[in-house]
Amino acid sequence: MPASNHVSTAKLLLAFLLINVLLNTEVSSLCQCIGYEPLIINLQDSQFIASGSHSDPDLQSWCSKSNMTGWHGNYVGFCDEPIYGFWIEVDFLENHMLAGIVTWGRAKTGSYWNQFDQYVTSFHLEFLVDKSTEWTNVTENGTTVMFTANTNRHDAILNAFSEMLLARKVRLYPFTCYGRATLRWEFIGCNRFSYPLVKQSFAPPGLALCGLDPRKCFRWSRIPIRMQWSGFRTRKNETRLSLHGRSITCDRRHVTVGMEKNCTQCAANEVRYDLCPIEGTSEDGQCQVLCRMRESQVGQPINLMLMVNGNENTELCAIYSDASLTIGTPGRTLINDWPSFFEQIRDIY
Ligand SMILES: *[C@@H]1O[C@H](CO)[C@@H](O)[C@H](O)[C@H]1NC(C)=O
Ligand SMILES: *[C@@H]1O[C@H](CO)[C@@H](O)[C@H](O)[C@H]1NC(C)=O
Ligand SMILES: *[C@@H]1O[C@H](CO)[C@@H](O)[C@H](O)[C@H]1NC(C)=O
Ligand SMILES: *[C@@H]1O[C@H](CO)[C@@H](O)[C@H](O)[C@H]1NC(C)=O
Ligand SMILES: *[C@@H]1O[C@H](CO)[C@@H](O)[C@H](O)[C@H]1NC(C)=O
Repeated sequence: MPASNHVSTAKLLLAFLLINVLLNTEVSSLCQCIGYEPLIINLQDSQFIASGSHSDPDLQSWCSKSNMTGWHGNYVGFCDEPIYGFWIEVDFLENHMLAGIVTWGRAKTGSYWNQFDQYVTSFHLEFLVDKSTEWTNVTENGTTVMFTANTNRHDAILNAFSEMLLARKVRLYPFTCYGRATLRWEFIGCNRFSYPLVKQSFAPPGLALCGLDPRKCFRWSRIPIRMQWSGFRTRKNETRLSLHGRSITCDRRHVTVGMEKNCTQCAANEVRYDLCPIEGTSEDGQCQVLCRMRESQVGQPINLMLMVNGNENTELCAIYSDASLTIGTPGRTLINDWPSFFEQIRDIY
């Protein structure tokens, strides 16, 4: 087998291990999500349960997919007052990073469809992380978010989360509704990530400085610590990176961050970098680096190189970036064209 095959097998394995690291840790905001997919539509019937459902076989919990009729809670009131204790739950079977939820009302299917003008107008969400038994509310600023949902049965309403939600199970509790509490739903899950990797020749393989609890630092016996962050993306023309660690001297002699140049005149194997100025240590002790992108780099994948020099005490724990790549502004949005919306967020730049 040629050497390059070994390399790519090792890379694949590494990527697989890293994804597991990512999905198994709760601190997930350090990773960039660069691609999304709909999750609900591809699940098995057994992955849905509910507090109860209407007796009609077309209105069960697994009928809540966007291309089916909808889940009709067994709530018998006419939505003239708030409802309590009714829910539908999805089990993704493993943790997923979720960027938002989309809801619709009852689909216009079946022979008497025009009699069933039904939708959920507000709801809240509880979630469960894998291996945990404690349900947690989706909150913002410490209070349960009451999501404003649909105003008719056919529009797709996106509620983008203000932060990525890491969850294995999610329960939706309708709170107010119109007609009856019938809904279809979809979660927007992250399926591709970009994150910094420790260069293998200088450190133990398989360490991503992303998604890791900053308290769990890695200490390398070999200095300098070298990292590669391939495919970093931002929509802005500058990005501030914060390096968390211990015994990091935050100056030009000890910290180097470079952005790979698009170098047409360079020799085949030559890589050149634009250096990012080191701004110094912030009040909370993080080393701040400011990278200014060229116009041609904004929204494009950028390869970053990071190097931290120091002594045997030097540790690097995490790298934060202020580059935000959300699927849209957090909060409620009407999605006019659902299929083309998904084409757009398959790759995020
Ligand atoms: C809904 O979409 C899924 C995924 O594309 C497909 O497998 C399923 O057959 C569809 N169901 C209906 C009722 O169209
Ligand atoms: C979530 O918030 C709702 C509404 O405020 C509350 O009724 C419910 O008990 C909360 N659930 C949890 C798990 O804290
Ligand atoms: C949370 O606080 C931020 C900043 O103060 C504010 O912009 C936002 O609207 C708040 N969110 C909610 C749901 O109150
Ligand atoms: C960067 O973007 C900001 C606003 O988005 C703009 O005001 C500024 O001039 C830009 N800087 C450069 C160097 O292009
Ligand atoms: C690199 O630069 C050349 C010439 O400026 C440009 O045509 C090309 O699109 C650039 N490639 C990338 C990946 O930015």
